[in-house]
Amino acid sequence: MNISVNVCGINFKNPIILASGTVGYGHELNSFFPINEMGGVALKAVTVAERAGNPPPRITEAKSSIINAIGLANKGLDYFESTIINEVSSIDTVRIANIAGESIDEYITICDRLNKHDAIHMYEINVSCPNVNAGGMVFGLDRGMLKALVKECKSVSKKPIIIKLHPDVFDIASIAKSCEDNGADALSLTNTIPSMEIDPIREIPKLYNNFGGLSGEAIRPIALRLVYLASQAVSIPIIGGGGITNTDDVIKFMLAGASLVSIGTLAITNPMKPYEILNELPAFLERKKVDDINEIIGRLKTY
Ligand SMILES: Cc1cc2nc3c(=O)[nH]c(=O)nc-3n(C[C@H](O)[C@H](O)[C@H](O)COP(=O)(O)O)c2cc1C
Repeated sequence: MNISVNVCGINFKNPIILASGTVGYGHELNSFFPINEMGGVALKAVTVAERAGNPPPRITEAKSSIINAIGLANKGLDYFESTIINEVSSIDTVRIANIAGESIDEYITICDRLNKHDAIHMYEINVSCPNVNAGGMVFGLDRGMLKALVKECKSVSKKPIIIKLHPDVFDIASIAKSCEDNGADALSLTNTIPSMEIDPIREIPKLYNNFGGLSGEAIRPIALRLVYLASQAVSIPIIGGGGITNTDDVIKFMLAGASLVSIGTLAITNPMKPYEILNELPAFLERKKVDDINEIIGRLKTY
């Protein structure tokens, strides 16, 4: 039984990636399970300058989901290079830097400076964070800016670039295609979905930021549609995710066209779960009489 997947020339032991922002820098989860065994880990977003993120409350619950407005809190690029890179280099899995910025120059600075670090295998260009005032999803929503950003990142990057797309767009297929045409090596979708929750007693939003990004089980049908539509439009690989909670969900995203899948909120609510899903995967495939997981990528039948 083969569950390894090759994406952009990089070998993933299995298709399960831990999603950015939900597992810190990955090694924090080692007390729950051997993180080395996962297919990859997308590290928490890095920005040029340190960011405190939004004031609390910055996470709240909704039905089968959470809404977060963390706001890309991180200690900045200097600290990432001096400390985080060393910490994550011992994790024996594919390590993906998640890159965010307020301008194209900031994205480029990060790609350029991380080029020299062998500990980072790929860049995930985050153009879809809903929780910042500048940058973030602005790039994902403006086609002209997105095109320029993808081009510039590609020209400076010495590692494959994954563009993490924004879900709240009118035509995901043409946005995905434009990323491919302008040099993206892979796509990732979906990020959290812009949303809001209100406290009816106190009569205020549940998040200080008013709005946040919805993630977890509730968004899976939306994410599946986006992955399917994008995969029909491009031939570059896709990392699919949003609301994965079990092995069935992994298979659903792969059938829809994802070569890799990402698990986020589930790792927050139950840190053991991604590892349990990984361990259940071979038996699940055997029951489906699949010898090689690559066989099911994009194999969805339609009526
Ligand atoms: C608390 C939290 C923080 C996140 N931070 C980031 C981030 O820094 N960069 C990023 O690209 N996505 C970030 N995300 C989005 C996740 O990586 C993932 O795309 C999204 O949550 C959907 O997957 P899920 O339903 O499995 O959580 C964050 C999500 C959560 C819940």
